[in-house]
Amino acid sequence: MPQDLSFYLIPDIHYYEPSLGTTGRAFEDHVKSETNCCESSAAIFEAVVDKILSDKTTRLILLPGDLAHDGEYESHLSLIRQLHRLRAAGKKVCVISSKHDYNDSPCSYNGDRRVPVKGTKKSEIVDLYRDYGYGEAIAFDEVTLSYVVEPQRGYRVLMINCDGEFDLPGLFTEHLILWIRAQVEKAKKDGAYVFAVTHFPILPVFECCEFVPESHVRSWRSIARILADIGIELVFSGQMHIQSVNKFVSPAGNTLYDICTSSPCGFPGKFRKVTLRGGKSAEIKSIPVPDFDFDRSGLSVSDYFEERFRASVFHRIRSFLELERDGLNAYQNFSLRALDKMTCGRLCATVAYHADDSIKDLKVRDLVADLLVAVFAGDPPYSPETAVYQDVRGFLGRIPLIKRAVNRRLSKDTGETIDLEKLVLASISGSKALPDNNLVIKLK
Ligand SMILES: [Fe+2]
Repeated sequence: MPQDLSFYLIPDIHYYEPSLGTTGRAFEDHVKSETNCCESSAAIFEAVVDKILSDKTTRLILLPGDLAHDGEYESHLSLIRQLHRLRAAGKKVCVISSKHDYNDSPCSYNGDRRVPVKGTKKSEIVDLYRDYGYGEAIAFDEVTLSYVVEPQRGYRVLMINCDGEFDLPGLFTEHLILWIRAQVEKAKKDGAYVFAVTHFPILPVFECCEFVPESHVRSWRSIARILADIGIELVFSGQMHIQSVNKFVSPAGNTLYDICTSSPCGFPGKFRKVTLRGGKSAEIKSIPVPDFDFDRSGLSVSDYFEERFRASVFHRIRSFLELERDGLNAYQNFSLRALDKMTCGRLCATVAYHADDSIKDLKVRDLVADLLVAVFAGDPPYSPETAVYQDVRGFLGRIPLIKRAVNRRLSKDTGETIDLEKLVLASISGSKALPDNNLVIKLK
């Protein structure tokens, strides 16, 4: 039995070099829809590195992609300077890349202007991060840039890169699957416990994501089945900036757990420490981002993240309503504008449903933000007994025609039978069996 292995997981750092500009109208417009705190990501990551450096016993740090904000070369160089601090202290850092690391839209911001800056090519990633995983790989796939490391005797980590072979993010090609199979077989032959790291979650992170493209790998059911049946029990993922742990059991009875972790640079601002106890259990702990050196206008770290998250939700709702206004008549236009300010009580009254006193004066958009905050933080509190759950169900129960139309449209788009009400209620209640933040998983 191998000795215990501990490691940190920090997906979606989205590091942005601050000298590229963090003020002015162009920058403010750019970050309006962002949940990540681009302007403070450098200060945040520095504080996270300090925190990890204070842990003298944990050596391994895994970074599952979206390392840079929008692929700026300068952001990569600046991030690597922070990673060097970890390496200099004897830590081993392993990265994979994802969509925001290259071929993105790298810009600096100067007043009203967005100015293109040097970006990064995918072919440059391996050289840039040679000291951070690729250089120590015991197996490397040149097609996908996936690789295997052995951080400690008895453990192999599959760093699976599925960020866009054929320009299709989240695609596990036949080639990649064959490569993974070969690596797992070799690890087993060598008596090593093997687990995987990917950017894209294998499993939908909550029920409503089941049919959202790029919120999980393509053909997720068959990929989950393949991984579970070749003997991978644990996958650590990112991409969705959410705290979520999910479980899949293949028809052959093999179990796969997907542990998706949020970004340290945006709500809920967590990273994880995992300890594998002799390959028999996985202890998973979520760690809040520590205090960092940035003017947050008096807000605590968690309030700062949450305020940004809510502002981004409101901005997206407003943009959606603006978009939907095209081609509407004056009355419909007025109704959509009103929806932005409407309370839950008034919206429910339009379908002759009485909202609970505890939420009737809450604006609909605030309730939407509350629900998203709860889901993204993990372990959402809206069980079927709560007023919020009852009222969401009550409201959806009064709009059968709209529901049928939406279900038909989603079913047509996805080729599956969709019941939106069921998906929404399952998502807000966190009805799945596993905790999202702190848990112990028993392994085979
Ligand atoms: Fe990301």
